[in-house]
Amino acid sequence: MIPPDIRPILQLDNVSRDFGGVRAVDNVSLKFFPGEIVGLIGPNGAGKTTLVNLISGFLPVSSGDVLYDGKSIVRTSPHAIARSGVARTFQIVQPFAQMSVLENVMAGAIYAGDCGMREARQKAMDCLEFTKLAASAHMPASELALADRKRLELAKSLAMNPRILMLDEVNAGLNSSEIDEALRMIQSIAARGITIIVIEHLMRVVAALAQRAVVLHHGAVLSEGATQDVFRDPKVVEAYLGNRFAERFART
Ligand SMILES: Nc1ncnc2c1ncn2[C@@H]1O[C@H](COP(=O)(O)OP(=O)(O)O)[C@@H](O)[C@H]1O
Ligand SMILES: [Mg+2]
Repeated sequence: MIPPDIRPILQLDNVSRDFGGVRAVDNVSLKFFPGEIVGLIGPNGAGKTTLVNLISGFLPVSSGDVLYDGKSIVRTSPHAIARSGVARTFQIVQPFAQMSVLENVMAGAIYAGDCGMREARQKAMDCLEFTKLAASAHMPASELALADRKRLELAKSLAMNPRILMLDEVNAGLNSSEIDEALRMIQSIAARGITIIVIEHLMRVVAALAQRAVVLHHGAVLSEGATQDVFRDPKVVEAYLGNRFAERFART
């Protein structure tokens, strides 16, 4: 599916992370390619968020290497990693509550970019237009409802001009039409050539978005490949998804 001569934009080589006695990420090797959407799935505690933390530099790896655009970033600060084009949203959404929606997004632009206030403001407004939050630009971020706080996370990470965007459960808690809207947004972000790693519990979202899927289980890669194949993989069905799910996808 991926032409062999395409170079990965992100590559994990035998990455592990221990917390005391718990191996949260266990010897994970993966490649991600420019402009693709990859679904990262797995039960609670599988290590998905930890993996995002390792890639974005928020946590050091215990062993292994992370290559971004061919260069190791395991000793690079989170700030420098963000500046170089690796953005992520947070599963637990924590905007700067006292600041306006616009200021929150500007903070993203300034954190990751080399831009002054005017440029940051313009970039932030563009991102708010894109995420349909422009009308709330001057509201305190604390007043946003959940769906809008999730969009704010998206706007903030887009303002960082990413080449890779990791979305950690941005659809959790949204209703069905909010999810459809988010799906369209994510697809149009990928259409700009940004690589998207989408962590998601809802299989329909992964099926709609991701050409490839990776299943983590107890920190290790249990299965990876074309999304439909991964969903049918007996190991995945047995370990995680349950038979009802497998039957549904066997028919698709
Ligand atoms: N900061 C931390 N300190 C200790 N244990 C952690 C920490 N973060 C995650 N863990 C543990 O690592 C494992 C993977 O967690 P996590 O990456 O949050 O999983 P997921 O996002 O797939 O639900 C869990 O057992 C969790 O309790
Ligand atoms: Mg998580």
